[in-house]
Amino acid sequence: MTGVVLIFGVSGFVGGHLAEEFCSFGYKVYGCDISESSDIADQVTFIPCDILDQVQVRKVISETKPMYIVDLAAISSVSYSWKEPAKTMAVNVEGTLNIFESAKEIIPNAKILVIGSSEEYQRSDDPINEEFSLDSCSPYGLSKITQERFAKLYREQYGMKIYCVRAFNHTGVGQSDRFVIPSWCRQVALLSAKKKRMAISL
Ligand SMILES: NC(=O)c1ccc[n+]([C@@H]2O[C@H](COP(=O)([O-])OP(=O)(O)OC[C@H]3O[C@@H](n4cnc5c(N)ncnc54)[C@H](O)[C@@H]3O)[C@@H](O)[C@H]2O)c1
Repeated sequence: MTGVVLIFGVSGFVGGHLAEEFCSFGYKVYGCDISESSDIADQVTFIPCDILDQVQVRKVISETKPMYIVDLAAISSVSYSWKEPAKTMAVNVEGTLNIFESAKEIIPNAKILVIGSSEEYQRSDDPINEEFSLDSCSPYGLSKITQERFAKLYREQYGMKIYCVRAFNHTGVGQSDRFVIPSWCRQVALLSAKKKRMAISL
């Protein structure tokens, strides 16, 4: 066996694909989420867990003792983050801190991957690189900046192996039609099935 991986947010769009990829390389994969998806690969052991519940997070980490943790659990929609800014900060920051705190106590040498976003960067019409200023224009982006700052703090203060990426939009099979590209695809498919001419809404 290659190692043990624990994925928080396994029922989401990225979670299903990532879990399958880890399984195909021989990892033992545990996946957590607030709801179970039928799309998760059979080899994945699903454990219900709300990352806002510190007791549940500690229990799952101490029972699985992963070498690798991937934190995909999030409020991931920018538009939803405007409706629920406090919940967005709670899940994306407090939830991630619950993972850091438990990992610090139980598996301090585990590697943890945290997924930030291009939404952390200041708006720009020009191409940007990693050095570009962070200054978000949405509650979602602010939550991701804060999450990343805490990751840096825990690396510096406790020597934890926490890695951050700032992912740009990605899409594909299994993404919810709450997001723009799957929404357009669904509308085009519906229109072509009905053979109607209609405007596509955003
Ligand atoms: N998909 C993209 O284009 C994109 C771009 C940049 C960053 N990201 C980030 O990548 C990560 C994964 O994105 P995704 O597209 O799979 O998102 P997604 O919304 O499809 O999945 C997020 C998952 O987190 C779960 N979740 C929410 N609250 C939870 C809680 N309290 N406890 C446990 N689980 C909870 C949800 O049930 C869902 O299954 C997120 O952090 C997202 O912000 C995604």
